[in-house]
Amino acid sequence: MNVLLTGGTGYIGSHTCVRLIELGLRPVLLDNFANSKRAVLDRIERVTGVRPLFFEADIRDRRRLDEVLAVQPVDAVIHFAGLKAVGESVQRPLTYYDNNVHGTCVLLEALQAAEVRTMIFSSSATVYGDARTMPIVEDAPTEATNPYGRSKLMIEGILRDLAVAQPEWSITLLRYFNPVGAHPSGAMGEDPQGIPNNLVPFIAQVAVGRRDRLTVFGDDYPTPDGTGVRDYIHVLDLAEGHVAALQHGHRHPGVHVYNLGTGQGYSVLEVLRAFERVCGRELPYAVAPRRAGDVASCWADPERAGRELGWRAERSLDRMCEDVWRWQSANPTGYPE
Ligand code: NAD
Ligand code: WQD
Repeated sequence: MNVLLTGGTGYIGSHTCVRLIELGLRPVLLDNFANSKRAVLDRIERVTGVRPLFFEADIRDRRRLDEVLAVQPVDAVIHFAGLKAVGESVQRPLTYYDNNVHGTCVLLEALQAAEVRTMIFSSSATVYGDARTMPIVEDAPTEATNPYGRSKLMIEGILRDLAVAQPEWSITLLRYFNPVGAHPSGAMGEDPQGIPNNLVPFIAQVAVGRRDRLTVFGDDYPTPDGTGVRDYIHVLDLAEGHVAALQHGHRHPGVHVYNLGTGQGYSVLEVLRAFERVCGRELPYAVAPRRAGDVASCWADPERAGRELGWRAERSLDRMCEDVWRWQSANPTGYPE
């Protein structure tokens, strides 16, 4: 089975690529390197012994997509490509709607023409907005709190409309909670450009000496220790969730929606403590005011994915931190240029 991974050299795409190769499937990677580096391809080869097929392309470029799909026919698509920085999306909303929403429409047209009818889409727990009840089930109300989140909700809506118009499509919306972790080899991991927006990459950079201290955004939330609580999920568990979704999606047309999370929430300070255990020293932090747009708590009910896909996350928070630390200490400045 040939599987197109848009955004395939990105953080989640590259780890999913490794898992697909290990299972004997044939990933076909496509990326424009907007937020990833070519060296990722060398690392995938180092880890798996297989160099994946790769096409440099922008999902908004219809002609290029047609070319890729003609050279390399595929059976299904996992659509990771997108911009994902919440703060940047507030500053540059049109860039996000163009890249994420328009890009997805162009991709869908190219897939239609190539008669590809199975898509797994990278959605996000951000579509639940400030959810009232925890854990969050898939039928909870959705709401956008920023342009990034709105782009995900818009794409979910477009995909649902498409499945109504053309019932032969199989569309799976995977709503990821907080992906963290790295490949256990230490050769692959998350490589944010500039100052990390997310908690775990930031802590890892403090641990490796690239940043002085963690800023904890608020300690006055209605949570056990006052800091924000999230559902952190290992990127390899997430990768396995895509494999399960692919196998299921291929046999079941229609629209399927799954939370991919562990079902367990951890606070900012709990994550910091776990990372300290792993790197063997105390890490400095300072408490600052809340970050605009943050919610107090967010964790998944992953029961539906367990029941319908036979998938559940297995890796612990300590394991997530160990793998991140192995990657960060072996690659203090991330992937080479
Ligand atoms: P990432 O930035 O590492 O990967 C995305 C990849 O898409 C990058 O390699 C980038 O170069 C590529 N890309 C962006 N625009 C493109 C375009 N127009 N054409 C071709 N390639 C393009 O991000 P990630 O963490 O791997 O996230 C993958 C997907 O999962 C994204 O859609 C993201 O919104 C979604 N998601 C991520 C998280 C998270 O916290 N990491 C959480 C929920 C959902
Ligand atoms: C986690 C916790 C912060 C950084 C974001 C997106 C979401 C999804 C996943 C893509 C919060 C606190 C963080 C720091 C801190 N991405 N924090 N100091 O905000 O839950 O989710 O990534 O879809 O859409 O919004 O993740 O890692 O940024 O924050 O105290 O330097 O860590 O306040 O409580 P978040 P995060």
